[in-house]
Amino acid sequence: MPEIAAFLSEVKASVDARLDEIVPSAEVPPTRLHEAVRWSLFAGGKRLRPALVIACGRAFGAEDEKLITTAAAIELIHTYSLVHDDLPSMDDDDLRRGRATCHKKFGEATAILAGDVMQTLAFGAIARDEAISPELRLRLIELISEAAGTPTGMVSGQQLDLDAEGAEITINGLENIHRQKTGALITASAVAGAIIGGASDVEIAAVEDYAQALGLLFQMTDDILDVTQGTEMLGKTAGKDAAAEKATYPSLIGLEETRRLADELRTTAAAALGRIGPDTTLLKELLHLVADRKS
Ligand code: IPE
Ligand code: IPE
Ligand code: MG
Ligand code: MG
Ligand code: MG
Repeated sequence: MPEIAAFLSEVKASVDARLDEIVPSAEVPPTRLHEAVRWSLFAGGKRLRPALVIACGRAFGAEDEKLITTAAAIELIHTYSLVHDDLPSMDDDDLRRGRATCHKKFGEATAILAGDVMQTLAFGAIARDEAISPELRLRLIELISEAAGTPTGMVSGQQLDLDAEGAEITINGLENIHRQKTGALITASAVAGAIIGGASDVEIAAVEDYAQALGLLFQMTDDILDVTQGTEMLGKTAGKDAAAEKATYPSLIGLEETRRLADELRTTAAAALGRIGPDTTLLKELLHLVADRKS
């Protein structure tokens, strides 16, 4: 197995085990709510954000035990964002991670609450993480809440994304949406790993540059795949962006120019890695994985 594939399956196993500890079992009341959380969380998913926390943390010498709860917490926030993103009042999707969306399976009200509780479980898990100091926990909570929230984080980007449906938008406006709705949490994942590993401010800045380019590239690729791949491959309904008149790179500048910009971002991200002292092999491989991904 190539090194990166082995790393990703290791991340998946350890993060899923920690998630299983953080989320109350499906037998704990309200059972319907915990079933709904588990339905969406353990449906698969690439676990890219946890992989970034761990790859970055390891690069700076952090032990896995110090990284794993933060990695799981960020995956909880990401999954909550997907559950809410799929709601009828947002993107209205029936399929996610190869199975029925949370609201299709459990109803809209439970899906909303499942998203809500994934967010509180995430911050609670970091607050209680005894593998790291209270100061570090506070710093991570601040970092991640900013990335997940507003005025420059994921929720902010989701609002801008909805506002842009069917509207005129500039390339800068679109870049801002993508950096907020997707880039912010991806960036926080890498930076969290670096902070836990005790990286210097200069190193954290380089990690941030790498991850910001990676995050924008990730959403650009998501836009490309929505046009070029089928539903089966994606595990979510293909062709939804055009149908919803979403503001995307392919719709604004075409596929070819989107691919060119994505390639530029790959170069930018790789150059930022060159400014980081420790071994960044895994981070480089994650970059190529995101750039070349097909799902
Ligand atoms: C999907 O994220 C939503 C976007 C930010 C584009 P992922 O493509 O990481 O979804 P999973 O976690 O693998 O299901
Ligand atoms: C979603 O972007 C970004 C999130 C914060 C969830 P999309 O709406 O393009 O994600 P998909 O294509 O539904 O996964
Ligand atoms: Mg969306
Ligand atoms: Mg969507
Ligand atoms: Mg999409």
